[in-house]
Amino acid sequence: MAFSASNCLALLSFAFFVSSSIILSCASRGIEARGSPISSLVSRELFHSIFLHKDDNACPAKDFYTYDSFVEATRHFPNFGNAGSLSTRKREIAAFLAQISHETTGGWATAPDGPYAWGLCFKEEVSPQSDYCDSSNKEWPCYPGKSYKGRGPIQLSWNYNYGPAGKALGFDGLRNPEIVANSSSIAFKTALWFWMTVQKPKPSCHNVMVGRYVPTEADIAANRTAGYGLVTNIINGGLECGRPNNAQVNDRIGYFQRYAQLFNVNTGPNLDCENQKSY
Ligand SMILES: *[C@@H]1O[C@H](CO)[C@@H](O)[C@H](O)[C@H]1NC(C)=O
Ligand SMILES: *[C@@H]1O[C@H](CO)[C@@H](O)[C@H](O)[C@H]1NC(C)=O
Repeated sequence: MAFSASNCLALLSFAFFVSSSIILSCASRGIEARGSPISSLVSRELFHSIFLHKDDNACPAKDFYTYDSFVEATRHFPNFGNAGSLSTRKREIAAFLAQISHETTGGWATAPDGPYAWGLCFKEEVSPQSDYCDSSNKEWPCYPGKSYKGRGPIQLSWNYNYGPAGKALGFDGLRNPEIVANSSSIAFKTALWFWMTVQKPKPSCHNVMVGRYVPTEADIAANRTAGYGLVTNIINGGLECGRPNNAQVNDRIGYFQRYAQLFNVNTGPNLDCENQKSY
């Protein structure tokens, strides 16, 4: 068979009546055509050596975050881990996995295998201080009685994130925020959505990690230089950046250093954000 992926859509419409095996081979070609799938850089074995304890009884998210749902979610974001050199691709994936690990960490200083072997231990925030409803936001109004607390690998929070994430991914984030902690593939998709999406004035985490970040004058004045520290600034800079030796920032860095080693790639410069102003 010698049809290209671009013929797939046209073919599919009649192939439906002919043979499901054509559809299957077409679908898998479509995925390959968008670049090698993430599984060539993150094998099942590597995933499990990164997240050594995610399925322990001690972890509330036990058995929730599966390798297959991670890979499935990445198919919706074909540019993730797929821009630039092999090192750049591995570094971006290591940075993403490190940030979601900090957000869901069950680790502590003397934990078995060290504090950075405990990513993906939680799927929802345990003692939220509020419902994370910004009622001044009229574009994404809170639904009565719903909590927009941290859920999923990136701990998606606030109505103004649940609304647009759901719109982009095909669920009702305002009426049904709980689904982020009920469906593993939706959970991973929300984390990738946050990672890939530019939310002005912030750049996307993806663009920072693949060298596509172009600082504005204001960014330069605020020391917002490309590197893993800037990704931390995008995710939670208001609470963590611009202050020396912040414990959360150090935890994020610790995860990244361990994962970069497992991916056999260097971390790049500017791991910290202690000299950066937040957005
Ligand atoms: C999510 O799961 C909980 C129980 O684990 C259930 O009570 C709730 O209805 C579920 N919500 C959705 C949106 O599936
Ligand atoms: C930028 O970093 C320098 C140290 O490298 C620091 O002295 C300065 O205060 C920082 N500027 C801002 C706006 O944080």
